[in-house]
Amino acid sequence: MASVALQGLSKTYQDPQSGKTVAAVKNLDLDIRDGEFLVLVGPSGCGKSTALRMLAGLEDITGGSILIGSRRVNDIAPGDRNIAMVFQNYALYPHMSVYDNMAFSLKLRRLPGFFGRLTGGEKVKETQAAIDKEVRDAAELLGITQLLDRKPKALSGGQRQRVALGRAIVRHPEVFLMDEPLSNLDAKLRVQTRAELIKLHRRLGVTTVYVTHDQVEAMTMGQRIAVMKDGVLQQCDTPLALYHHPANMFVAGFIGTPSMNFITSKVSLQNGEPVLDAGPFKVQLPHSKASALKSYDGKEVILGIRPEDVHDRALLSTTPHWGDSTIPMQVEVTEAMGARTIVYLRAGQQSVVAEIDADTNAKEGHTLDVSLDTSVVHLFDPQTEAAII
Ligand SMILES: Nc1ncnc2c1ncn2[C@@H]1O[C@H](COP(=O)(O)OP(=O)(O)O)[C@@H](O)[C@H]1O
Ligand SMILES: [Mg+2]
Repeated sequence: MASVALQGLSKTYQDPQSGKTVAAVKNLDLDIRDGEFLVLVGPSGCGKSTALRMLAGLEDITGGSILIGSRRVNDIAPGDRNIAMVFQNYALYPHMSVYDNMAFSLKLRRLPGFFGRLTGGEKVKETQAAIDKEVRDAAELLGITQLLDRKPKALSGGQRQRVALGRAIVRHPEVFLMDEPLSNLDAKLRVQTRAELIKLHRRLGVTTVYVTHDQVEAMTMGQRIAVMKDGVLQQCDTPLALYHHPANMFVAGFIGTPSMNFITSKVSLQNGEPVLDAGPFKVQLPHSKASALKSYDGKEVILGIRPEDVHDRALLSTTPHWGDSTIPMQVEVTEAMGARTIVYLRAGQQSVVAEIDADTNAKEGHTLDVSLDTSVVHLFDPQTEAAII
């Protein structure tokens, strides 16, 4: 096992058609702890795969350094970095059995002359027995022992994914790198495999860098999550820290479904108490926000509030702890999800999404009185989009 450090890592591509340069990864600093499961997440094209491929040694580095443990690996060949990578498309050898797919890299590595004439000396036999044990142990761990003689084409997507994992596990790498390994699985299998990967990580304790564009996957799997946008790291923290303390509007909007509501409003400090004027309604903020908003008096800010913090006033029995201010809003659409209902609301030019208890009486075309939990609102600077703290 090993820690991983990316220091000022950059990658610039030359676009083959236009000849223009594309900065795919910009000055990425990231410290991944020994044994950690870190998820690299962001929208398609933000540079996740490029970062991972540089770490794997599959892509040249334009600038910066990569350390695995204390070893600088910039100029070390992929095969000597002691990492194993699992891809979205599994990359299995189609003509080999599951067993051979898993054993292949071990044979290459440990049986010199594997490609040539292999005489059956004692040493070779010993090595072959050791490889056989590795493969069978990994197959057992992954529950694919009964598939060892099959070819990849006779396997389901989920089974292929296990073989790809098995091939990584037998090598006992210091670091696992996974690039969207679940995206070819159907929704149900994806959720199942997600949990299995986590269990596997708990058992093996191997440092893992896991790439996905899916924020739910990131939230459920990552011990920490690094959020990227346009090649730039936005924030790296635990799932709940990202959820409750997003550093900027991008992270706030990317993490959580439905997305956080953003409401442009004007600040006024009335006798030192912060009030936001959103146009059709006003929001009294807690006194604790006053100092942060001092320099915004008379200016605009973006109010951020998560859908679950927009409440149906009728479902709140007593006066809520954040104070009693009711805002009437038009119900445009309701989506019954079972235990919860997603309600799309409008007040003047402001549209707001609420996620409320299915007991709600919200009806399309009617008015709903809502109460915003102002104790958990977020505030952002409209120019920089950074959180105002
Ligand atoms: N070989 C390449 N040549 C030119 N541009 C590339 C190449 N690979 C990736 N890119 C560009 O770099 C950016 C990041 O790509 P990628 O790392 O694959 O993103 P992600 O994995 O987050 O979807 C994209 O704009 C992509 O078009
Ligand atoms: Mg990718």
